[in-house]
Amino acid sequence: MNTITLTQPDDWHVHLRDGLALERTVPDLAKQFRRAICMPNLVPPVKTVDEAIAYRNRIMQHVPEGNLFDPRMVLYFTDQTPPDEIAKIKASNCVNAIKLYPAGATTNSDNGVSDIRKVYATIEEMEKHQIPLLLHGEVTHKHVDIFDREKRFLDEVLSPLIQQFPDLKIVLEHITTSDAANFVLEQSKKVAATITPQHLLFNRNDMLVGGVKPHLYCLPILKRQTHQTTLLEVATSGNPKFFLGTDSAPHAQNAKENACGCAGCYSAPTAIELYAQAFDQVGRIERLEGFASHFGADFYGLPRNTDTITLKKEDQVIPERLDYLEDQQIIPLYAGQTIQWRKV
Ligand code: NCD
Ligand code: ZN
Repeated sequence: MNTITLTQPDDWHVHLRDGLALERTVPDLAKQFRRAICMPNLVPPVKTVDEAIAYRNRIMQHVPEGNLFDPRMVLYFTDQTPPDEIAKIKASNCVNAIKLYPAGATTNSDNGVSDIRKVYATIEEMEKHQIPLLLHGEVTHKHVDIFDREKRFLDEVLSPLIQQFPDLKIVLEHITTSDAANFVLEQSKKVAATITPQHLLFNRNDMLVGGVKPHLYCLPILKRQTHQTTLLEVATSGNPKFFLGTDSAPHAQNAKENACGCAGCYSAPTAIELYAQAFDQVGRIERLEGFASHFGADFYGLPRNTDTITLKKEDQVIPERLDYLEDQQIIPLYAGQTIQWRKV
């Protein structure tokens, strides 16, 4: 198959940032995706429905004329998120979930939840109203090896959480291990996961052998190849528990190429083509549509999109760098390299 037409896809996990960054991130994402779950880890974070509506309005100012991009908003879970915010989410027409970052797990997670048991009263309301809980699934204890943090989260946080709230809708975001994939497979249909393009296309050797590649550094960190293989298997299996979430997370070049480099890969401008590349590499391009355009909407209880996009198997050179903020640049995923798919 050299050309495929799919229902327009949605991105169920993206970082658009705020202010001038939106000039870059919103048009890049909106030329591919109809909807996106806009992650709330701004400084300060998006903590209430009112703040989410204001952030959505700022995003909308950068949507190109005639484009029907529909940002879906998410609140940032803190130790203080009150149970009565959940009814407000239910009543809003643009907030779809709450994202829980364990405090200290990743970029701008300092205001995250210090101990999930402290917020069980709010989670109980989420279960009652069927508001999805989105999880950054890594423990943060200093002594736990960075490559083991996702697995430890499954055992120590997620299992007890599901036992306590069996009817809670949960998305385990950006899974990176076979452990996480198998865990999700074993749960009820209330538990799903997003997968990024970088975790399908790369493993830790790509990041570390022959010199460190800071632009492949993201969190959760790339794992060994066996995990990459499992992620490819489940993403292309047709199982609706696994769907697209780019985790595109821009950081300026100088913040990445730094003695203390930031975590995040910027994939927004060509994300759907990168997924096509990954699916095609394992001979499963025909499974892309479910993963990219159907399963996420179904999980969130939103209608599937009705427009389509067409992808063609044709070489595309990814730009070396892109303008960002006033005088900075971003190095996108696959910068300067050729990929085999192109949106027409
Ligand atoms: C994200 C960011 O920069 O906001 N970084 C990343 O490496 N994925 C945060 C996150 O999703 O963990
Ligand atoms: Zn993210």
